[in-house]
Amino acid sequence: MKQKKRFICKECGYNSASWIGKCPECLSWNSFIEEFISQPQKNTFKSIGSNKLENINNITQKDDALIKFKEKEVNSFFGDGLVSGSVILIAGEPGIGKSTFLLFLAGILAEKKKILYFSGEESSSQIKKRYERVKSNDLDLYVSNISEVESIIEQSQKEKADIVFIDSIQTCYSSNTESSAGTVSQIRDATSMLIDFAKTSSISVFIVGHVTKSGEIAGPKIMEHMVDVVIYFEGDEQYSFRVLRINKNRYGSIDDILFFEMNEKGLKFIKNPSGFFLDKSEDNEEYFIGKTRSVILEGKHPLIVEVEALVVPSVYSNPRRFAEGVDLARISRISAIIDKHLNENLNNYDIYFNISGGIKTKDVSIDLAIAAAIYSSKNRKQIKNDTVFIGELSLTGKTRSVIKIEQRIKESKNFGINKAIIPDCAISGSGIVFHKVKNVNEAIKSSM
Ligand code: TYD
Ligand code: MG
Repeated sequence: MKQKKRFICKECGYNSASWIGKCPECLSWNSFIEEFISQPQKNTFKSIGSNKLENINNITQKDDALIKFKEKEVNSFFGDGLVSGSVILIAGEPGIGKSTFLLFLAGILAEKKKILYFSGEESSSQIKKRYERVKSNDLDLYVSNISEVESIIEQSQKEKADIVFIDSIQTCYSSNTESSAGTVSQIRDATSMLIDFAKTSSISVFIVGHVTKSGEIAGPKIMEHMVDVVIYFEGDEQYSFRVLRINKNRYGSIDDILFFEMNEKGLKFIKNPSGFFLDKSEDNEEYFIGKTRSVILEGKHPLIVEVEALVVPSVYSNPRRFAEGVDLARISRISAIIDKHLNENLNNYDIYFNISGGIKTKDVSIDLAIAAAIYSSKNRKQIKNDTVFIGELSLTGKTRSVIKIEQRIKESKNFGINKAIIPDCAISGSGIVFHKVKNVNEAIKSSM
């Protein structure tokens, strides 16, 4: 059969006979990739419920059957346990621990469930090796290397599975789709068939999807629209902690986060991540130079963190800016604010910035702490370690209030913090001295 060529948008799946720079559907740039097809696409869509029109008042609400985990935090992460027939995408970079996470979940099921584990990534003996390394109890787990989605569905139905693991969608293919595994059409069609299967059989399906740092591998983006739940498994290979974020959830909220520690025994769930990111080696130091403390919010958790800045005269014509844990653009922005409002010219200085413990955050309440750390390092000014800085900075150098300040203060008190430098707000209470500041100038003055 002669193969035809087409171009497909890896963000939304729109296809076109010729290459286009900007997708007319989702407006992404440079998202078209070439694929080969030899037959027109069949419409594989099937209805997930009744085809009749029903008056909403007469529809009886079914309680979705739930699969419960032993950890109540994991139950509430998913909503209130796992809804039978739900499809969950676990996305993350290769090697971050997605396969280990599948085994972790299987290990904390409140009741024994029959699990089928289809892996196109690893041999059965590789999976067994990991299982022996991480298992805490014997599981009712069956492993296969089948990658054809039609056979996966047939096996799962025949075996009356409760839960199905697909590791990974990039190695899955449907025999009805004439392109190779890992292509956008294969990923989309295989996912659509798995969703259809989950809905009609009430079997829950976990699908692993790889994403790379540059987001080059097509697929998970398209899948996000199709599945019920999207989880991102994140972390830094240099550090042992892993974070599980929920990006989409048809059954619950998306403001939760789970923390794990990865070790040779697999993933250890961290129930209380408080203090996990503090550098314990400097606990006895009374003063810091170039280091300040702040409280960020990750999901529902207030976390005390340490931000570190090293500001040194530059030998380069273009001074270096290096940031870990926050966007480099934030460091540049805050440096510009310091330049303008504290009259500190940083043009001839290199700035290295880091958050201890390797955590990454987008929480803007860390701005004030970053400014203080940069100022302290440049001017060799000491900051007492019993101080926290919480507040966003506007371009005019003013402090802006942040959400959930009470929770952040409570977390600070847990770590023996005596002084909180915060924006002007209504908070009061005992056990900590508040320095309410209107701008970056006042913040620096009251801390050093
Ligand atoms: P894995 O679950 O295979 O990652 P993914 O499925 O996302 O590709 O986890 C791989 C990690 O497991 C690897 O980065 C390090 C860790 N690991 C150990 O800690 N000990 C070991 O003996 C092995 C083989 C891996
Ligand atoms: Mg894997």
